[in-house]
Amino acid sequence: MSSFKAIRVHQVERATHSQLETLTLNDLSAGEVVIRVAWSGLNYKDALAVSGKGRIIKSFPRNAGIDLSGEVVSSDAADFKPGDKVLVTGCGIGESLDGGLSEMARVPASAVVKLPAGLSLREVMVIGTAGFTAALALKRMRDNHQHPDMGPILVSGPTGGVGGVALDLFSGQGFEVHALTGKAEAQADYLKALGAHTVVDRLTLEMGNKPLESALWGGAVDNLGGPTLGYLTRTVKPWGNIATIGLAQAHTLDTTVMPFILRGVSLLGIHSVECPRPWREWIWQQLAGPWKLRHLDTLVRREITLDQVKETCDQQIAGALVGRTVVKLSGQL
Ligand SMILES: NC(=O)c1ccc[n+]([C@@H]2O[C@H](COP(=O)([O-])OP(=O)(O)OC[C@H]3O[C@@H](n4cnc5c(N)ncnc54)[C@H](OP(=O)(O)O)[C@@H]3O)[C@@H](O)[C@H]2O)c1
Repeated sequence: MSSFKAIRVHQVERATHSQLETLTLNDLSAGEVVIRVAWSGLNYKDALAVSGKGRIIKSFPRNAGIDLSGEVVSSDAADFKPGDKVLVTGCGIGESLDGGLSEMARVPASAVVKLPAGLSLREVMVIGTAGFTAALALKRMRDNHQHPDMGPILVSGPTGGVGGVALDLFSGQGFEVHALTGKAEAQADYLKALGAHTVVDRLTLEMGNKPLESALWGGAVDNLGGPTLGYLTRTVKPWGNIATIGLAQAHTLDTTVMPFILRGVSLLGIHSVECPRPWREWIWQQLAGPWKLRHLDTLVRREITLDQVKETCDQQIAGALVGRTVVKLSGQL
């Protein structure tokens, strides 16, 4: 393909704007592996980058898209050959390197993972960074001895991508999962279909303000930060883990040392972009095998094309979307 289409983000006088452009391979950042992109997906970060609402892109101009799957066209790395089916999540694409909202991509071999047997190119993009991150949270919590017997896992932001996958994944691994949402009335059926045992209304939840409140949750997966994360530190049971993933509510955290020194609670940082490669490969093998999601068809709520990306990102920033969005490029499975 001598020329191809991509969502390219520019910066003009400190303001960013994105548009659908026609490019050639020479326009792309350096890398050993050239990939014909089959599918991408939209994450909160992509919505921030494309809408210009967040400082995600590190240098301009840059193709957006932190996720892609596709087929190798050419490779200067011994590990990959033309025809290989592969995926990339994070590793700087769509931030400091050109990303996956593009018909063609060129990426460092260190970022590329072979498509695990048991998942299609489309399915890995339904999972995407959102699902990979939920799986990284499961890994870190289990490594720190989280067990279903310790009590229910509370997942915040569950109508979003990370939270939705977390419901499916943790419930599939034997945890009782409760969904803490701002859309309790409208989305209860969707959240229960993904595996939520109970739906908790964030808008009416009494969060209290004591250093320790009644211990209710065996652990938590938090996508919101701010007051919600503070509440979780005060209400997780002894030795429980809180995986801190996102800042959809705020980047702040107001708490005390009490949960950590009187209940042994652990706050586990989740950083999917630079996840060590052995963990990255292991997690994808898990997602294709023993951690296989049961509700991918429920999680994916829309399939769009490149020309619909901008308007969909605006809707995501406005909080109007539920579930995962996949973007169809070549559409190969
Ligand atoms: N650490 C990492 O490596 C990593 C990786 C991926 C994502 N993230 C972060 O994780 C978070 C979730 O990502 P995502 O892709 O799942 O996003 P998403 O699909 O947009 O979902 C975010 C969810 O958070 C809730 N929410 C949104 N705005 C809110 C607000 N102002 N106040 C309170 N709740 C709000 C909503 O859930 P309800 O309506 O159900 O409450 C929404 O569905 C983001 O902050 C993202 O940047 C971090």
